Amino acid sequence: MPMPGPGYDIDAWRRRVPLIQSCIPLNNCSQGPQTDLTRAAAERYLESWNRTGMDWDAWMEEVRLAKVAFASLIGAAPDEIAVFSSVSEATSAVASALDFTGRKRRVVVSEMEFPTTGHVWLAQERRGAQVSWVAMRDGMIEPSAYDVAIDNDTALVAACTGYYVNGFRQELGPIVARAHDAGALVFTDAYQALGAMPVNVKESGVDFLASGNLKYLMGVPGIAFLYVRPGLAETLQPSVTGWFGRTNPFAFDVKQLDWCAGASRFDCGTPPVMNAYIARAGMEIISSIGVDKIRAWHELLSQRLRDGGQARGLAQHGTKDISRKTANTAFVVRDSHAIEHEMRARGVLPSARGPVIRLAPHFYNTIDDVDTALDLLAELTRA
Ligand SMILES: Cc1ncc(COP(=O)(O)O)c(C=O)c1O
Repeated sequence: MPMPGPGYDIDAWRRRVPLIQSCIPLNNCSQGPQTDLTRAAAERYLESWNRTGMDWDAWMEEVRLAKVAFASLIGAAPDEIAVFSSVSEATSAVASALDFTGRKRRVVVSEMEFPTTGHVWLAQERRGAQVSWVAMRDGMIEPSAYDVAIDNDTALVAACTGYYVNGFRQELGPIVARAHDAGALVFTDAYQALGAMPVNVKESGVDFLASGNLKYLMGVPGIAFLYVRPGLAETLQPSVTGWFGRTNPFAFDVKQLDWCAGASRFDCGTPPVMNAYIARAGMEIISSIGVDKIRAWHELLSQRLRDGGQARGLAQHGTKDISRKTANTAFVVRDSHAIEHEMRARGVLPSARGPVIRLAPHFYNTIDDVDTALDLLAELTRA
């Protein structure tokens, strides 16, 4: 029987990823590969810089278009998006806008957060915040675990959309419902989910969503976006701020701290212009293929990884339920960095993280790619 294929022209997309000629990239949970489209976008900026010396109008328009592209990926409006250079910075800006001096000072943080999120909330303890943790069991967290963790003293809940270690996907709906019931805000880090699965802030009801672009969004380091729920943004004044958070940054009024409308009040300094060019091109790849089609293909590849891993005696970390995972499948190994090193030397690019090797395919990967990676991983874990 012929192998099933994705609902798009995978061969055409493979031709746009030069790295495929020399190896099998399966490290999208860490860094997506370059495409001819993202490279061309970087060159467009370099060309503009070289040709014009400076073209701030065009560059700011590009940043605006990158916000538009990000907004459309998460079901938001462009004026609900701010731009930063990292998720850490975006999270710090959110934290700086919250007051922890009153009764509501608890910040409930899942153990699944990427360390940077934990660090930002822990740093708020100096400002009066009290961090409490939602524990992970077997690499998973059931939404009910939040029920007891959240109380009326909770100011904010930080629950990532996808776990960077094993791809576990948190069900945000019930977490948001519980948090809002207690009068708490919800912040989600969607870095491990965007580009790999449909995400909609209006459906989940989260108050903040942050993500960078270098994983399934096919971009580069040095740019991140923040969604702030409309209506909420206007009530907040982040002390991590800068001239781009003003009504008119180009008024150059050093004594006037006016707050612009919408999420843009969270904008800080000069935006990462070149990265915005690349980020937009990467996000347009995802939307032109269609995130639903990408997700369907990921599910098939994930089944192949789960079943193929089991057949080869590999120990999967976390849930085996594909519907509860992003595209990342993680296997427990003895020395993940040594194995990553050896796999790279033999033409497969995985991503080591703590006790696991992560195999995170994307839209351009084939069933043969994941079979080859599993064969190699099984051989190396036996050796
Ligand atoms: C879920 C998640 N959040 C955040 C980060 C890093 O964020 P930052 O942009 O602050 O480096 C990563 C990985 O790089 C991640 O996987």
